[in-house]
Amino acid sequence: MRSAAAAARTATGAPTARGRVPLAGHSLRFRRDALRFVRELRRHGPLTKIYIGPRPVHFVTDPELVREVVAVQARAFEKGAMFTTLRAPLGDGLITSAGDRHLRHRRLMQPAFHHERIARYARVMAERSRASAAAWEPGTTRDLVPEIHRLTLDILLRTLYAGAPDDLELHAAVQDWLAVKYHSMRLALSPVHAWAERVPLLPAWRPPHTGPLERLAAVQRRIIAAYRADGRDRGDLLSMILLAEGADGALTDTEVVDELITLFLAGTGTVSAALAWSLHEIARRPGVQRRIHEEVDSLPAGRPSGIGDLPALAYTRRVLAEVLRLYPPSWLLMRRTVRPVTLGGTRLPQGAEVFFSPYALHRDPHLYEDPDRFDPERWPHDAAAKAPRHTYLPFGAGSRLCIGEEFAWAELTLALAAFTAHRRLTPAGADPVRPLVGTVLRPDRLLLTAHRRPV
Ligand code: HEM
Repeated sequence: MRSAAAAARTATGAPTARGRVPLAGHSLRFRRDALRFVRELRRHGPLTKIYIGPRPVHFVTDPELVREVVAVQARAFEKGAMFTTLRAPLGDGLITSAGDRHLRHRRLMQPAFHHERIARYARVMAERSRASAAAWEPGTTRDLVPEIHRLTLDILLRTLYAGAPDDLELHAAVQDWLAVKYHSMRLALSPVHAWAERVPLLPAWRPPHTGPLERLAAVQRRIIAAYRADGRDRGDLLSMILLAEGADGALTDTEVVDELITLFLAGTGTVSAALAWSLHEIARRPGVQRRIHEEVDSLPAGRPSGIGDLPALAYTRRVLAEVLRLYPPSWLLMRRTVRPVTLGGTRLPQGAEVFFSPYALHRDPHLYEDPDRFDPERWPHDAAAKAPRHTYLPFGAGSRLCIGEEFAWAELTLALAAFTAHRRLTPAGADPVRPLVGTVLRPDRLLLTAHRRPV
């Protein structure tokens, strides 16, 4: 039987969070300190209503209700406002698509991320990370944020297109396109955008994506045509995506282009952010860094590292698991109901926007003891030992679970091992590192000094 409280919520809807102001709703609080704002919402209960300008959003703060959204009732949800905005610069790939299209594409994309493929990509990850780390002269200080971004993009380009890793036109087109796409989260949380959508005669607030998107799509078509012409499996993501076939055929060129563009968005900013936060944490913690050094030193010398080394890097992986808990790059996830849904006793109409925050869950004192403390020992066996379900969501969960999760673990572990193998890192610069809250949660900059090791 439903409780009286649940019945009352059904009648009255979820409570509105404190701090709503006319016109802007809760957007000013989001803008002032988004991380604090999302953490504090649990005070209002498992489901609370916030407003982005005029747009109501149901914010889920309870892991059981998150499970309802991402798993139990997953088919009642599609991606929400941000993804409608994103469809313009991104096309309709895995991240933005819904329903049967998403299922079909997911099935066709999955083989490109199988374990044995990741083993091939891992060689590229290790080799490029080693080259990037080796170029860092001992005794010098660098801002690692742009450095790491270059590295993750380089790795993605070489694992996507083994047949065109140095295609200059491709590199230029990707750079141009990456420069415009990051506005999507800002637009999704903007009250001005939410109001503009209510006035059909006003054009919606759009980033200037068209030119860069068309250029990137044209280059991809040229590369796809070359791949199709010789039909070889080059051991990369693109070959596998082109080879995959389901009962209703393979992906068309246009669909492949959308998926490739999606992978640029999904597979660069997230990994860069996680790697940057990892280096930030270990540079400040000599004891943690020493244990990573011990692990890296135990790897056999004289042969290139790869996926076979991952089991020996168990502590390194625990450090990464803790970094992804404290700084989940995808700090805010969004959905929209495709039909009326009852969530924790509250009835949501079709079209209701629903948000939940891995960051807020990961720092909830009811779910994690002393949640702001960095402690890799929370992960006693290894990071794969799952935390209580739906309390640890750096890669999401359910049918929209990150398809690149294993790719990301391999890349992060091998890159962290490469950066620490011959260097000891210490923080530099007097200013504290600050979180930048955009589509991903990343450090604003990361000044570190490298020292030769062993010293
Ligand atoms: C540390 C790195 C990464 C993090 C934290 C991360 C996080 C996430 C999260 C949270 C989702 C689910 C979003 C939602 O439920 O709304 C997701 C989806 C996705 N990720 Fe990742 N990701 C990472 C790396 C990657 C990489 C390396 C790739 C590909 C090369 C990738 C490709 C994707 C794709 C295509 C989706 C959409 C999946 C679907 O809806 O079927 N991600 N990621």
